Amino acid sequence: MNLQRMERMALPPQAAETLEDSLGLAAQTSREIRTLSHLLHPPLLEEAGLPSSLRWLVHGFAQRSAVEVRLDIADDLGRLSTELEITLFRIVQESLTNVHRHSGSPSASVRLRRSGPEVVVEIEDQGVGVPFEVCERLDVANPGAVGVGIAGMRERLSQLGGKLEILRASPGTLVRARIRSESP
Ligand SMILES: Nc1ncnc2c1ncn2[C@@H]1O[C@H](COP(=O)(O)OP(=O)(O)OP(=O)(O)O)[C@@H](O)[C@H]1O
Ligand SMILES: [Mg+2]
Repeated sequence: MNLQRMERMALPPQAAETLEDSLGLAAQTSREIRTLSHLLHPPLLEEAGLPSSLRWLVHGFAQRSAVEVRLDIADDLGRLSTELEITLFRIVQESLTNVHRHSGSPSASVRLRRSGPEVVVEIEDQGVGVPFEVCERLDVANPGAVGVGIAGMRERLSQLGGKLEILRASPGTLVRARIRSESP
């Protein structure tokens, strides 16, 4: 509010430019805090369930990032525990963030389906692909060598008995998480 008040003052050009920059930074900071708080506690998940929450996430992401996202959710998912839903939600969230930050892809798809006793989620883009050296480091036992994003997804999944794969698609990247869920 103070910055906006200053906008109405007669300022020398350099000060006006600095002010405009500060207003931009304040707006960006508030957007990032919102995104981060959604990451910490996805607001819809407990009330609305995973499919609706994913639709909300994908819609907001597509608007903010200008990446076109196709979302496919199977009808026969069955019931998933809240813990599992949060884990799957966060995998989609982190993977889409990676698509936006690293892939350069104009499009992505998110698929959620059941495969026997497992639930499978896939996030695919048509971008530059994960660099080979990152792929190599992902294979070794020390996933901390890459960012916290992939390492965090992998760790959380393995605590719940699931598996994360990062594959080079042609072109682009495919992230696949599989995990057993209660219902057959
Ligand atoms: N969809 C993608 N396309 C291309 N490269 C990718 C993609 N996803 C991940 N990467 C590569 O893998 C690396 C590791 O990803 P990771 O999410 O672990 O870390 P990060 O995104 O760099 O940082 P953060 O800890 O904030 O998530 C990235 O730095 C990037 O080089
Ligand atoms: Mg990341």
